[in-house]
Amino acid sequence: MKRNLRRKYLARRLAALALVMAVFVGVSALAAGALGWVGSLATGWFAPSPNSRGYDVATSSSLTVVVNKQRPLSPLDYYPAQISDFNLTPKASAAFAKMRSSMAKAGAGDLVVVSAFRDYATQLETFTKYTSDLGETAGENRAAKPGFSEHQTGLAADIAATGQSCAIKICFAQTKAGRWLAKNSWRFGFILRYPKGASEITGYQFEPWHYRFVGPQLAREMHKAKVAVLETYLNLGPAPNY
Ligand code: DAL
Ligand code: ZN
Repeated sequence: MKRNLRRKYLARRLAALALVMAVFVGVSALAAGALGWVGSLATGWFAPSPNSRGYDVATSSSLTVVVNKQRPLSPLDYYPAQISDFNLTPKASAAFAKMRSSMAKAGAGDLVVVSAFRDYATQLETFTKYTSDLGETAGENRAAKPGFSEHQTGLAADIAATGQSCAIKICFAQTKAGRWLAKNSWRFGFILRYPKGASEITGYQFEPWHYRFVGPQLAREMHKAKVAVLETYLNLGPAPNY
């Protein structure tokens, strides 16, 4: 008899304990959920909104990284994992090959890469050459300091066309190749990175030869929206200087 009573007593205590634990777990889960919800609301309200339309503009290996005088590469001597034909990273290289054959088919010329990937040391040489030839202001309007050039990402190419004049000159914009590229590059995921009249935002003079692979989606969106400047489309601040 006594034993039975003890068993019942123990079973009741166990059931009560289980109930208390279940309530505790339930309440904790609810509290965590509520905290998370409040947290996400607070983030949405008070934190600066991700203002780059969801694109990864910060990772150096991202196809959509934005590198300018205010946005250095990380690390400064960043080196892409792989460099392929045309001295570009694999995706940019494949897209460039397509753009090149499409342009040839259209009879607009034979594209050649004058300069694409440049590592930190090569960019330092480029920067030093431009600033010593042109002076600091004009030189910095043409070439980026090492660590601040998108040529270091392997996604940018300075392009010319065989037999057409104005290689790496502003008049390239008026050549058959320059006009075809300005009109069609977006179809292959490339944008004209330093458009005319945008140096207060981009930090560089008009460079009708410098194309940047950003991937087909972003290039298409910018084309549709008729926004030529990468910083503007991605709601990033201007980068006129360092
Ligand atoms: N010419 C471009 C701005 C560069 O040096 O990266
Ligand atoms: Zn360039």
